[in-house]
Amino acid sequence: MSARKIIIDTDPGQDDAVAILLALASPEVEVLGITAVAGNVPLPLTARNARIVCELAGRRDIRVFAGCDAPMSRGLVTAEHVHGKTGLDGPQLPDPTMPLQDTHAVDFIIDTLRAEAPGTITLCPIGPLTNIATAFRRAPDIVERVQEIVLMGGAYFEVGNITPAAEFNIYVDPEAAEIVFGAGAPITVMSLDVTHKVLVTGPRTEAFRAMGTEPGRMVAEWTDFFERFDKEKYGSDGAPLHDPCVIAWLIEPTLFSGRQINVEIETKGTFTQGMTVADWWGVSGRAPNAFFAGDVDADGFFRLLTERIARL
Ligand code: RIB
Ligand code: CA
Repeated sequence: MSARKIIIDTDPGQDDAVAILLALASPEVEVLGITAVAGNVPLPLTARNARIVCELAGRRDIRVFAGCDAPMSRGLVTAEHVHGKTGLDGPQLPDPTMPLQDTHAVDFIIDTLRAEAPGTITLCPIGPLTNIATAFRRAPDIVERVQEIVLMGGAYFEVGNITPAAEFNIYVDPEAAEIVFGAGAPITVMSLDVTHKVLVTGPRTEAFRAMGTEPGRMVAEWTDFFERFDKEKYGSDGAPLHDPCVIAWLIEPTLFSGRQINVEIETKGTFTQGMTVADWWGVSGRAPNAFFAGDVDADGFFRLLTERIARL
């Protein structure tokens, strides 16, 4: 079976970095490009960090594009409290030497969807949805050409992680999320409901460190840093590896289960802006618009992730 062509839209972030490594280690997917967006840290850092990860994987051939530096219609909220000042805190990392592409990320997304055959490109947003929504707004014709959008964002049973009601990626740019969820392209949602079930416990972190490879060491040291926030807040025994769930879905979808439901985005609520109103119980009568993952085989997920990272 030929590799699935994907564009990863990202705001690295330690968990984004692991997702990118998983994609670059997996022959089931072909990364056509990586588009950086402002999110966990400002755009110059997310564009820097994406290239650091590509160089760590020995993939200086991957094209990295800088995208939107702020949400569509509100100020940027970042998450240095989770990811550190650089967004990849933990190990000391040299600046990348591979160049950033001159083309804007939104133009790359539009041009790629127009150039490739309809239904052959999967968009994998693992940060705020600003780049994707801006591309859809600027070029509505590309929406029907998208094979699938597989995104990390939102929550239902797990409620919010940046506010009591909202998950970070959706909260940063709710207007963008509203555009994406309302566009009509097939959407698969990896929300906190599944990502909070893939915790990098001590033994799982040690499995990365024991690889004796630079990528394995980096993943362990990123996890050592990244997990302190969630362990303190939730009392959990490890950090949730949010973004790699998107790539794992593409490689081994049977690791996940969920429902095709209606998901709307709250953009106006006093206390609920950025909330994904997921109609898990089918009470709204609104048409289903997304496959919302609800459960995951965590051991199977880490088996896959560990086996693939060890290949780098
Ligand atoms: O809420 C988790 C999401 O926000 C992840 O994508 C993480 O990288 C941050 O961007
Ligand atoms: Ca992210």
